[in-house]
Amino acid sequence: MQVAKIPTHVAIIMDGNGRWALARGLPRLAGHRAGVENLRRVITACVEFGIKHLTIYAFSTENWGRPREEVDGLMFILNEVLDRELDELHRQGVQLRHIGRLEGLPGSIQKKVRQAIDLTRNNDRLILNVAFNYGGRDEIVHAIRQMLADGVQPEEVDADLVSRYLFTAGQPDPDLIIRTAGELRVSNFLLWQGAYAEYYAADVYWPDFDKEQFRLALEHFSQRERRFGLVSNQLKAAAPVPGGAPASHPGA
Ligand code: IPE
Ligand code: IPE
Ligand code: MG
Repeated sequence: MQVAKIPTHVAIIMDGNGRWALARGLPRLAGHRAGVENLRRVITACVEFGIKHLTIYAFSTENWGRPREEVDGLMFILNEVLDRELDELHRQGVQLRHIGRLEGLPGSIQKKVRQAIDLTRNNDRLILNVAFNYGGRDEIVHAIRQMLADGVQPEEVDADLVSRYLFTAGQPDPDLIIRTAGELRVSNFLLWQGAYAEYYAADVYWPDFDKEQFRLALEHFSQRERRFGLVSNQLKAAAPVPGGAPASHPGA
């Protein structure tokens, strides 16, 4: 079945790897490995659905506080994924980007991430933002510091300028933010960009979020009425601008 309205930008909080593993009597890292396998399938599904931007939350600024062996294991998995999956992603036309503090990651990973970004920079089938060592508050702090360092004057600061100082500069805001594993919280993800995103909570763990689950999320999204602060009648009169508020938006 065709989905009526495909969002331009989907963001996913890939949660529940640990519980998925626990339910099987496996170590948490086995859940993270299963999560990576699933990610490959979801990326392929995104390309098939015609989604243009996918942002995935893989490691938060708060996740450093987890037990050392889990943090080390996650770094190991990221390193391995970059080696193993890059060629295939490139072949699929995926443009890889990183959001978050790259400089906080081990040097060898930084180098691989930079190389991957460089290799795929001209691809345009899907822009894949990997949020690794990402926090929404940290992103805003980083943006403010950068603006001050650039000598931006107070009267120059507006919402557009702030957006241009975020890690997602130049990309549309997410239309749909999916969180797996049933939790109803944002956990510091895309605090600014998610202002008018539609939220969807899937009640399966991330490794079990398959194409059918994805389709279900998209169908729910199709049925939502995004009002951007207006009332329904106004929306029927004005054609919506994809990925943003209608042109008649009073603050536009
Ligand atoms: C999400 O799964 C992946 C990361 C945060 C790295 P979790 O590891 O949070 O899994 P649960 O929530 O403990 O089940
Ligand atoms: C959010 O999940 C971070 C990622 C999915 C990378 P968490 O599992 O860290 O979030 P909390 O702790 O349940 O809020
Ligand atoms: Mg979790």
